[in-house]
Amino acid sequence: SITPVNVTVTGAAGQIGYALLFRIASGQLLGPNTPVRLRLLEIPQGVRAAEGTAMELDDCAFPLLAGIDIFDDPTAGFAGANVALLVGARPRSAGMERGDLLQANGGIFGPQGAAINAGAADDIRVLVVGNPANTNALIAASHAPDVPAERFTAMTRLDHNRALSQLATKAGVPVTAIEKLTIWGNHSATQYPDIFHAEISGRPATEVVADQAWLENDFIPTVAKRGAAIIEARGASSAASAANAAISHVFDWVNGTPAAGWTSAAVVSDGSYGVPAGLISSFPVTSTGGAWQIVPGLEIDSFSRGRIDASVAELIEERDAVTALGLI
Ligand code: NAI
Repeated sequence: SITPVNVTVTGAAGQIGYALLFRIASGQLLGPNTPVRLRLLEIPQGVRAAEGTAMELDDCAFPLLAGIDIFDDPTAGFAGANVALLVGARPRSAGMERGDLLQANGGIFGPQGAAINAGAADDIRVLVVGNPANTNALIAASHAPDVPAERFTAMTRLDHNRALSQLATKAGVPVTAIEKLTIWGNHSATQYPDIFHAEISGRPATEVVADQAWLENDFIPTVAKRGAAIIEARGASSAASAANAAISHVFDWVNGTPAAGWTSAAVVSDGSYGVPAGLISSFPVTSTGGAWQIVPGLEIDSFSRGRIDASVAELIEERDAVTALGLI
């Protein structure tokens, strides 16, 4: 029998947690042959609800679920973790300044990074979902000096999937016909969904679509503002689609991306594409099961350059703000 993989999920009692845990326990995070042991980390007020979710997980009798433990202490919650999904975060409340938001999240992601450094397994892989995801990942990584920075990632897979869906609808093709889409930059309204390298059934997407006005005035803003549109319609933020993206991010990281094409993830920059080294920014990435690799050598035209630079400028501002606050 295979030793179970320890998966720590923070914010386990939240709405993404509820959409995520059953899929992890059913084998969709790591594959159908890998048993998992869930470690749920909540704040004390969330523990009772997490216990309720754990009861439901028990009631599914998932063959791959080897156990569930619930914690309100990060050091205990991350002990032995092989995969950590950092979902719980401090949302922006009415009237909250950006500095206050970063400060509050620094108080969460700094200690969680330190706890990962102290006790996670040597092969730990971290995905930050909680917003502001890129900068929260940067904060966590900076508190984990013994963990290679490449193990800390932030989620732009939901943005990637939103872009796939919008482009497929426009082109009248199934999503499976599209390859080589990219989300660049920050998981925020400044993100840049790039179709200039994308292919639709092997043909350049820009040629198939041939509609620059749609690209600029419809596609890019629709993808970038999709989160707000979901809140407006559903009365709550994206949860099942966010959980789905988190599952796909980790599955592809661990099991490898398909031979053709790539996906998008926010990973630590090595200076590629003019993104300052050390920033956690979204790139086109592939995996063969080890570290994410940034796809090299793509040509970036002036339209894309401006959009990428604008989103990276926002990441630099966030990094400078958390540096000034002493959070990294
Ligand atoms: P939610 O409010 O339903 O749940 C958050 C949970 O986190 C709560 O149960 C809360 O008690 C818990 N929590 C707060 N601080 C914690 C801490 N220090 N340790 C452990 N748990 C803690 O929120 P929801 O809808 O599940 O969203 C979670 C986060 O994901 C939000 O920050 C949201 O903005 C973000 N998000 C990111 C997306 C992305 O594409 N990167 C997409 C959608 C949401």
